[in-house]
Formats: sequence, structure tokens, C-alpha cells
Amino acid sequence: MNSEKNDLKIKDVLFSKEDLNKKINQVGMQITEDYKDKESDGVIALCVLKGACFFFSDVVRSFDFKLYLDFVVASSYQNSSKSSGKINILKDCNMDVKGKHIILVEDIYDTGLTLQFLREHYIKKGAASVEICVLLNKQYENTKDFVKYTCFDCPDEFVVGYGIDYAEQFRYLPYVGAVDTKNLD
Ligand code: IMP
Ligand code: MG
Repeated sequence: MNSEKNDLKIKDVLFSKEDLNKKINQVGMQITEDYKDKESDGVIALCVLKGACFFFSDVVRSFDFKLYLDFVVASSYQNSSKSSGKINILKDCNMDVKGKHIILVEDIYDTGLTLQFLREHYIKKGAASVEICVLLNKQYENTKDFVKYTCFDCPDEFVVGYGIDYAEQFRYLPYVGAVDTKNLD
């Protein structure tokens, strides 16, 4: 890691702790409305690690129906600020998804490659349904059919915090901020 990467600073707070709490609770109520009659089939909230870790833990605790939790690790960025375009599943969901309703919980929709790949993967494995829930959507206008739940339309910035990283830095921040991209690769 070079010194420029270590010197990165947050230039703006885009979504404060309060903004995140309020919106995530609203989305949680909406998901509860949509899923409460599906709980007998089995609903799995599937966290796309690591970026969605805090979002996932907050949003699932705002749901009011019975559900299972599981985790998947997918990678496309490989310590860079640009997607490599190739998705790898490094750790898959442990539960049997057949006949279950999956809610894929992800930090950011950008090119959509990660979520399209994961959605197909769980449909092929026999999930009854797969819906997408993201904290931030960088393509909000174009993805209304694909991404069912978006907390925030995300400006065209490289964002970090609340689980989201740049080269593993900044995940611990309690808010989402933008970093200066001029020194990023
Ligand atoms: P996609 O496959 O291009 O949609 O990539 C989405 C993934 O890229 C997210 O889960 C993030 O891990 C990462 N990503 C996209 N934009 C950003 C950003 O601004 N900051 C940090 N990670 C990002
Ligand atoms: Mg990610």
C-alpha cells in the first residue's frame, strides 16, 4: 500500500448515522409488509460480506417476521477502486436455499455485476424468489425493476464507511462519506 492510500481523507459526510437509522427503519417496515406472509415458506436474509455487514445487522433487526440469516462473500474489486468485472464467490451461503425466499442485502449497486451474478446463482439453486436490498444505489434510475429496495440514491462518488471500504480502510466509520478520488487507482 503506498503512502497516498494511507493519506486518504473523508471530504464529505454523505449520510450521517441519523440519516442511516431513519431510512433503514423505513425500508425494514416496507420489507416486513412484503414478507410477513412468506415466513412459513422460509425467508433467508443473505448478507453480502464484508461491505454490507453493518447495514445487514441494522436492517434485519428492523424486520418483524421470522427469518434466517446467512452470509456470502463475493469479490470483484480486489483492493482497487474499480470493479475487475469478474465475480468470485469466496464463501457461499451455508443454508439450503431451495424453495426459500432470499433477500440479498448488499452495500452498493454500481455496475450490478455482483448482484446479477448472485441472483442468477440462487435462482439456479432453486430459491423460490430472490429480491435485492441495497443501502446505496449508484444507478437508481435504471434499476427500479431489478433492485426492489434501495435506501439511498448514491451520488457519483467513491464512498466509504458503515462497512464500506477502500482497500480495507474506513469500514468502521459510523457514517457514509466520500473520499477524494484523485489518488485512487
Ligand atoms: P458492482 O458489481 O459493480 O455493482 O459492484 C458493487 C460492489 O462494488 C459493492 O458491493 C462494493 O463492494 C463495491 N463498490 C462500488 N462502489 C463503491 C464505492 O464507492 N466505494 C466502495 N466500494 C464500492
Ligand atoms: Mg461489496
